Amino acid sequence: MASRRKPIPQAAPLAAYRASRSRIDRAVARVLASGRYVLGPEVEAFEREFAAYIGCRDAIGVGSGTDALVIALRALGLAPGTLVATPSHTAVATVAAIELAGMTPLLLDIDPATYTLAPAALERAFGGGRRIGAVIAVHLYGQAADLDALVPLARRHGAKVIEDCAQSHGATLGNRRLGSIGDVGCFSFYPTKNLGAVGDGGAVLTGDAALAGRIRGLREYGWRERYVSAVPGMNSRLDSLQAAVLRVKLAALDRANARRAAIAARYDRSLAKTKLGLPQRRPGATHVFHQYVVRVPHRDALRAALDRAAIGTAVHYPAPVHLQPAYRGRVALDPGGLAESERAAREVLSLPMFPELRAEDVARVVMALKADA
Ligand SMILES: Cc1ncc(COP(=O)(O)O)c(C=O)c1O
Repeated sequence: MASRRKPIPQAAPLAAYRASRSRIDRAVARVLASGRYVLGPEVEAFEREFAAYIGCRDAIGVGSGTDALVIALRALGLAPGTLVATPSHTAVATVAAIELAGMTPLLLDIDPATYTLAPAALERAFGGGRRIGAVIAVHLYGQAADLDALVPLARRHGAKVIEDCAQSHGATLGNRRLGSIGDVGCFSFYPTKNLGAVGDGGAVLTGDAALAGRIRGLREYGWRERYVSAVPGMNSRLDSLQAAVLRVKLAALDRANARRAAIAARYDRSLAKTKLGLPQRRPGATHVFHQYVVRVPHRDALRAALDRAAIGTAVHYPAPVHLQPAYRGRVALDPGGLAESERAAREVLSLPMFPELRAEDVARVVMALKADA
C-alpha cells in the first residue's frame, strides 16, 4: 500500500526559491522595471561576480549548459570532425554538444570510485595513434574529475581541456575552483543545479582574453559590432531575469553547498553499515554533492521500495550514452571497453539531496534504506 506520508522529493527547486523569496522577487521586479531583458547590466554584473567567485578572468553568460559547451568547442577553433574525448557516463548533453559543434565524440570509460573519466582510458585513447583535439572532463555529481592526471596528459598530446561544471558549482581541487583549471569551464544553471536559475541558463569561463572575445562573439551571431558578423555565430544569450536571480543565489551558494555537505555527512554516517556503496571523496578536493549517489546491485527493487515509502529518487543515468538509441553503434568508443560505465548505469541511485532537505526527512530516507537495502 502506498505511504500516506508527505512525499520527499529527490530535488526541490521550489524550496530554493522559497528560501530566498523576497530577495528574488525584488530582483525580478527590478529587471521588469528596467526594460532591459536580454544581456545588459544585470548579466554583466552577474558575469563579473561569477568570474570573481570561480577565480577566472572572464565569465560569459549563455542560454544553457549545452550551449556553453557548444560555444566553448567552437571558440577553441578546432576543425570540423575533430575527435573530442569524454566519458560515456554523463548527461547526454555533454555528447550532444560535441556533435552540435560539428565534432566527433570519442566515449571513454570511468573510474568506478568517482564516476569520472579514467585517466587510464584517456591514455589508451591517445595510445591508439588517433588525433584527439579536446577532452571534456565532467565533474559528475559535484566532484572533480582527476584533472591532476588528465590535464598534463592532454597537454602532452596537444589537446585542449574543457571542464563540464554543470554539476560542480563551487567545488574545488587543490586550492582552485573547478572551471578555472582547464582551458575553459562550462556551467549550466538549470533550476535543480547547485546554482540554479528559474529557467535555462549557462556560462563559459576562461582565463584567456582572446578566447573570451571569441566566445562573446559566438553567443550573439558572431557579431564584431552590432549587426556586423565577423564569423558565423548563434543566438545563445543569458537573459536579464535569470542573471538577477543568479546574483541572489550566488551570494547564498557557499551556504547551500555547506548544507549539502552536512546532509551527505549524515547519509555517510547513517549508512556506513549497510551494503550500499557510498560516494567516495577524491583526496584534496571538495565535493559539493549535486547528487548523493549510492551503488546497489538490486537498484530497481530498492528504488521501487523507496517509492512506496513516498521517497523520491533518480537514476543519473539509466544508460551510458554509447548505449542510447541516438548513439548506439555509430560513435567512437574506448578501445578498452566501457564495462565500468555500463555497471554504473545498472547500479547507481541518487537519494534526495537539496539544501532545504530537513533533518527528519534525511532520517526517514535512512530508515527506509535500512529496511530495504
Ligand atoms: C554534466 C552535464 N553537462 C551538461 C548539461 C547541460 O546543461 P543544460 O541542461 O543547461 O543544457 C547538464 C545538465 O543538464 C549536465 O548535468
